[in-house]
Amino acid sequence: MGKTTIGLVLLALILLSCFCFQFGTALDSITPSNSIKDPEVILSKNGVFRLGFFNFSDSTDRYVGISYNQIPVQTVVWVANRNQPLKDSSGIVKISDDGNLVVLNGQDEILWSSNVTNLASNTSALLLDSGNLVLKNNEDDNGASIWESFQHPSNAYTATMKISTDLRTGQKVQLSSWKSPSDPSDGNFSFGLEPVNIPELIIWNNNQPYIRSGPWNGQIFIGMLNMNSVYLNGFSLVTDDQKESFYLTYALANKSTLLYYELNPLGNLVERYWDEGKGDWGNNWLENDCDVYGKCGAFGSCDSMKPKICSCLRGFEPKNREEWNRENWTSGCVRTTLLGCQKVNNGSEVGKEDGFLKLEMMKVPAFAEWSSPFEETCEEQCLRNCSCVAYAYDVGIGCMLWRENLIDIQKFPSRGVDLYIRVASSELDKKEKSKVIVIVTVVVGIIIITISTFFLWSWMAKHRGRKQKVGEMLLFNKGKAVGNFSSDNMVGENLFEVKLQQLPLFNFEELASATNNFHLTKKLGQGGFGPVYRGTLQDGKEIAVKRLSRASGQGLEEFMNEVVVISKLQHRNLVRLLGCCVEREEKMLVYEYMPNKSLDAFIFDQVQRQFLNWEKRFNIIEGISRGLLYLHRDSRLRIIHRDLKASNILLDQDLNSKISDFGMARIFGGNENHANTKRVMGTYGYMSPEYAMQGQFSEKSDVFSFGVLLLEIVSGRKNTSFYDNQHSFSLLGYAWKLWKEDNIFGLVEMGVSDPSYDEKQILRCIHVGFLCVQESAKDRPIMSRVVSMLNSEIVDLPTPTQPAFIGGQINEDAESFPNNEDRFSLNDVTVTDVVGR
Ligand SMILES: *[C@@H]1O[C@H](CO)[C@@H](O)[C@H](O)[C@H]1NC(C)=O
Ligand SMILES: *[C@@H]1O[C@H](CO)[C@@H](O)[C@H](O)[C@H]1NC(C)=O
Ligand SMILES: *[C@@H]1O[C@H](CO)[C@@H](O)[C@H](O)[C@H]1NC(C)=O
Ligand SMILES: *[C@@H]1O[C@H](CO)[C@@H](O)[C@H](O)[C@H]1NC(C)=O
Ligand SMILES: *[C@@H]1O[C@H](CO)[C@@H](O)[C@H](O)[C@H]1NC(C)=O
Ligand SMILES: *[C@@H]1O[C@H](CO)[C@@H](O)[C@H](O)[C@H]1NC(C)=O
Ligand SMILES: *[C@@H]1O[C@H](CO)[C@@H](O)[C@H](O)[C@H]1NC(C)=O
Ligand SMILES: *[C@@H]1O[C@H](CO)[C@@H](O)[C@H](O)[C@H]1NC(C)=O
Repeated sequence: MGKTTIGLVLLALILLSCFCFQFGTALDSITPSNSIKDPEVILSKNGVFRLGFFNFSDSTDRYVGISYNQIPVQTVVWVANRNQPLKDSSGIVKISDDGNLVVLNGQDEILWSSNVTNLASNTSALLLDSGNLVLKNNEDDNGASIWESFQHPSNAYTATMKISTDLRTGQKVQLSSWKSPSDPSDGNFSFGLEPVNIPELIIWNNNQPYIRSGPWNGQIFIGMLNMNSVYLNGFSLVTDDQKESFYLTYALANKSTLLYYELNPLGNLVERYWDEGKGDWGNNWLENDCDVYGKCGAFGSCDSMKPKICSCLRGFEPKNREEWNRENWTSGCVRTTLLGCQKVNNGSEVGKEDGFLKLEMMKVPAFAEWSSPFEETCEEQCLRNCSCVAYAYDVGIGCMLWRENLIDIQKFPSRGVDLYIRVASSELDKKEKSKVIVIVTVVVGIIIITISTFFLWSWMAKHRGRKQKVGEMLLFNKGKAVGNFSSDNMVGENLFEVKLQQLPLFNFEELASATNNFHLTKKLGQGGFGPVYRGTLQDGKEIAVKRLSRASGQGLEEFMNEVVVISKLQHRNLVRLLGCCVEREEKMLVYEYMPNKSLDAFIFDQVQRQFLNWEKRFNIIEGISRGLLYLHRDSRLRIIHRDLKASNILLDQDLNSKISDFGMARIFGGNENHANTKRVMGTYGYMSPEYAMQGQFSEKSDVFSFGVLLLEIVSGRKNTSFYDNQHSFSLLGYAWKLWKEDNIFGLVEMGVSDPSYDEKQILRCIHVGFLCVQESAKDRPIMSRVVSMLNSEIVDLPTPTQPAFIGGQINEDAESFPNNEDRFSLNDVTVTDVVGR
């Protein structure tokens, strides 16, 4: 009897202690009153990461670090005391008297400290679900962080972490490798962003470049062959206005994916993803042998597909043939013939002008200089200066030039860019001779082709007729266009034809059968220049087909523009173009199908809007802001969308937002900041005042539209068709009235029943919305700031002043257009010709 009681008491005690222990581990922070002792841990809110003590293999060395918590394999992404292990299990992690987070051993010696000076003493360290450990001041209500593990990374690059370089302060956030997989102390390699000239990623080996990614072109690093898969994770490179601070970050499309990048002890950057089936990590190496910096020396080119990976560029020979034959390639190659311009400089006779050899599918050499956004000028600019030895062009970057030596060139099996190497004219002549043989072959070929073409010609006469028609239309457009980015037209036709050829082509029959002959029941809606149909290809793939209406002569320009703009873009918040069809009088674009249609069908619909809780709405807002940031900032050729509105935001099956309809987008040159147009096209309610009134547009006019969209998403009401009970107001006016009356939550549509309702975040969104719709363009933030503000990275928001278009309803403002204008509205798009300003 007594024994049973004791047993029960013991059992109860054990249960209680288990409960206590679990309660203890459930904490996500270390505070002055709550420290952890080996082997205790803290968990992030949703248990994704844990902070605690661990050891490698059978060693008694103990470390404090952050690991993935929900998988059976120990995976450490950050280590605090990496250079000073604990020698036994008496370690402790706590907030010290001076407010720093410290790791102590059993003798109370500090092995590691967050090492911030001038701290308030009441601080706590919070572990977030992103894996970031953040030290905060408890008495500071807005919770700015004092120290973050994300700013002092170990060897792992996890989602949302920022690899950064600030040229002003010289501060860098870089990864640094471990000595070995079981020794986290400082290794030889580091990985960071090198923003000199054109930003690129570099892995350093004891401060010598070891592997380089090639320049960032707004979408990818053009020297990383395996970047495709990486890109799907939404990498973005963000710079400030002065191009002085840069960071690279990525977000995972599916937040439950476990994926990160590790700089391993051998200096390779490895993409690691959790393979549930295998129960272990899968690894993707992002580099090959040829990626080792300068493997083939100056003017040598590396091709990993060849048995001897290094060869000299044409017109060059090994500097030291004996070394070269021993496969020691480091001394590189030298010119066989002096350049014409070098001879002139050296006082010998005037030679013929130099020329360029074209090398296709190349990784561009190191130390590119940026020269201009226009492809036509690359060659001339290089030729002008004898120190220029090569040039290349990438549409997202512009012209790149190289001086002196060409180092780290690689031949890719696919992709890559065309690299033009400067050589003496005599080298080109050599090439000419070998060409003679080629020419003979080609001539024979041409004769055969001509004959076959002649026979085909009669057979395909009908088809040829059609082609001519397209040609005529293009020609017609050329009348008002000047083929250059600063002109008033949106993009040049040459570019259009080039892009068209690069796109996958669908034939008319295929699309007709996919859409049941463009049946009315398949119609999804009306896009910028024609109806959009839903279709299913033979392989079951769902598509959306936008068909340029045959009736209106209008829209061809928008069609071409869309092809040119969107074929360059790839981002998970932009709708994807799969291909096109130009046949008979038909012009059609084929997109990925978005099952949830457009945003306006959700937020302005009494029934559908119930499916959008605050979390989803915020996700949509974030998506749009990222898509727009990508358009504005992430490539040297910036793109202004010009017609951002709810019906141009499409939603995929998970309600992720994707920007669509680039019919009016404008590509900006590198230094251009704003432009004027005589033809104002846009949608009332979304157009900024300077654009609607004066035809002036810039990034900031997109920001305005974004602001309107943001307020519409929060309020669930349209800006244009908005009426207050007594007064006719625009949504902006109404919102401003509520803001002034301190009643801004009256604007919010969602019910209190929404569990994701987050008052602070909603307020922040509305605040940002107001900043975006300020009357004066200079008072509106740029998109990168908007994104930071939405993410609460910028804590103190400026106070908004009265937004634009407050006075009354939108139509009244329309009255203030100049009188001698020609305005008409088509499919909800307003076209205005501002004349004689
Ligand atoms: C840590 O060390 C113990 C023995 O000291 C060992 O059993 C354990 O496997 C080690 N942990 C890891 C992850 O190797
Ligand atoms: C803290 O920083 C100071 C200088 O900033 C440095 O000398 C010291 O070694 C650092 N201490 C630790 C424990 O990192
Ligand atoms: C630290 O700040 C928290 C929150 O303001 C407060 O509850 C706590 O009493 C403070 N602790 C000390 C030691 O001042
Ligand atoms: C790091 O570099 C040093 C000197 O260059 C070398 O001795 C050492 O083996 C390298 N360590 C690793 C892990 O490669
Ligand atoms: C996200 O990933 C999880 C786990 O890999 C998977 O079960 C889920 O279906 C994914 N969600 C989407 C939308 O792909
Ligand atoms: C390759 O050649 C360079 C320059 O002559 C020399 O410094 C280096 O030691 C050589 N490397 C090997 C592995 O022989
Ligand atoms: C310039 O000419 C001199 C002889 O006239 C020659 O020795 C020298 O190598 C030349 N310079 C270059 C850079 O080739
Ligand atoms: C050629 O370029 C170099 C390096 O930028 C510069 O120093 C030199 O003045 C240029 N020469 C000419 C003739 O423009």
